Amino acid sequence: MSDFLTFALKSISQLLLPEFKALFDSTPNEFDSFADVLKIYEGGIKLPQGPSFKAILDAIPLEILRQLLSTDGEGLLKYPTPQVIQEDKSAWRTDEEFGREMLAGVNPVIISRLQEFPPKSKLDPKIYGNQTSTITREQIEDKLDGLTVDEAIKTNRLFILNHHDILMPYVRRINTTTNTKMYASRTLLFLQDDGTLKPLAIELSLPHPDGDQFGAVSKVFTPSDQGVEGSIWQLAKAYAAVNDSGVHQLVSHWLNTHAVIEPFVIATNRQLSVVHPIHKLLLPHFRETMNINALARQILINGGGLLEFTVFPAKYSMELSSVIYKDWIFPEQALPADLIKRGVAVEDSSSPHGVRLLIQDYPYAVDGLEIWSAIKSWVTEYCNYYYKSDDAVQKDTELQAWWKELREEGHGDKKDEPWWPKMQTVQELIDSCTITIWIASALHAAVNFGQYPYAGYLPNRPTLSRKFMPEPGSAEYEELKTNPDNVFLKTITPQLQTLVGISLIELLSRHSSDTLYLGQNDSPEWTKDQEPLSAFERFGKKLSDIEDRIMQMNGDPEKWKNRSGPVKVPYTLLFPTSEEGLTGKGIPNSVSI
Ligand SMILES: [Fe+2]
Repeated sequence: MSDFLTFALKSISQLLLPEFKALFDSTPNEFDSFADVLKIYEGGIKLPQGPSFKAILDAIPLEILRQLLSTDGEGLLKYPTPQVIQEDKSAWRTDEEFGREMLAGVNPVIISRLQEFPPKSKLDPKIYGNQTSTITREQIEDKLDGLTVDEAIKTNRLFILNHHDILMPYVRRINTTTNTKMYASRTLLFLQDDGTLKPLAIELSLPHPDGDQFGAVSKVFTPSDQGVEGSIWQLAKAYAAVNDSGVHQLVSHWLNTHAVIEPFVIATNRQLSVVHPIHKLLLPHFRETMNINALARQILINGGGLLEFTVFPAKYSMELSSVIYKDWIFPEQALPADLIKRGVAVEDSSSPHGVRLLIQDYPYAVDGLEIWSAIKSWVTEYCNYYYKSDDAVQKDTELQAWWKELREEGHGDKKDEPWWPKMQTVQELIDSCTITIWIASALHAAVNFGQYPYAGYLPNRPTLSRKFMPEPGSAEYEELKTNPDNVFLKTITPQLQTLVGISLIELLSRHSSDTLYLGQNDSPEWTKDQEPLSAFERFGKKLSDIEDRIMQMNGDPEKWKNRSGPVKVPYTLLFPTSEEGLTGKGIPNSVSI
């Protein structure tokens, strides 16, 4: 992370946020139409004038201001056009794109295969009552290409984006103590013959007004592209997208990459000497991680920080993230294990990576498995060179102290978990280092660098909702007949949070000029041992072959429909290298932004 980025991030929280707040408090602004939203990127949006705007201009150094606001100094704000609306301004609203982003967007790690109907909940019924889904067979069976629900389940055609259990315990608190009005959602999807996902129904649930123990109060919405029903369906998708953007930032991004990798960084630095082979293997994957995490604690995830301000769980954000950490299992972070756990792949020894995808055109998983295997072969060759037997692993006192500190202090809350590798065999060492490098590099890249490309246009991925779904008979329901876009825009993220949020993710989606990508090392002499050096070269060659394959697949949108989709944004989030800046591709070695 460059000094510029650090400074720019601090400028947002210390200068932009308070001044924006003051500015918008005196003159609250709303987006009146989608054309109004597009002005942020095309031509610029006029900020309310006043003493606060002058204060922003005076407080932020000119260079930062130009980068952050692209302002002409006259109160005009302008941001780069996010990829999701570069080719087509309205394709994001299609059902196909809504489903596709679960496979190739910025949060492609949640979707799972539905294996029972109706979907059940794992929440404790003594506390939360009946939380089983209320979606009925009748509501979806006419959209299954002639299959019954049971047949669709048996043939692996039903999938779910399930945010119900994670969010339900927070819905009442969020809705009563913050400005958010949100639901816990379940989205059901059907895998069509052409390999794309078609949404079937969205269930939006609230806790029972009389108390949690009475279960959920749920409503089910089904696709429509006509009139008020069509507008209601667009809103249902927006509520599901709100859920997904919170889970993305707090769980997929912060918790599962930035936070969980930190104990590995600390234990490696404290317990392995700099000449230890595993220190040399892992160190490039820890570059800048402590710096960005420290900065995140100062301005992003801290109480009252930017995340609480822009994403719906607000002051419950960190609690939610740490509660979900209780479910984190180290060996399940291996990509094949994760895919199997979510039911989107099955073990298959005859497949190249040992698993067979049940959604063949799943860009994150297809590219991810290639990268995973390349990392694994590299780590295998490297570890086999230094550790000729399991005995060598067991007798390496530094290595044993490293693993002990990692488990017992770093991930101390989990020290008694039975699933930790015991670090008694070379295979356990290989598996553990492969997972660590995967989390720090590819997993983080997949959930980080698509932030601005997909979420830089808030209607596609709103971060909060301010109103409940309009009820028939209400004024808002009537307005859906005459001006549905206005209802939509007054429901999702307001203008102030939009501008602060996209200023932030624009910076967080950038590569700095000194970034090192997977397969690169800043020193050609990082080791003098010839065999590891040749293995590293082979790793680099494999990654460059993967780049060729990605380009080939992206060049065939008829065969690989989910790689570009209606918005025509080719999937490059796991393309290993990149140029500097906002590119929507590139896998840095480490979590550094
Ligand atoms: Fe990040």
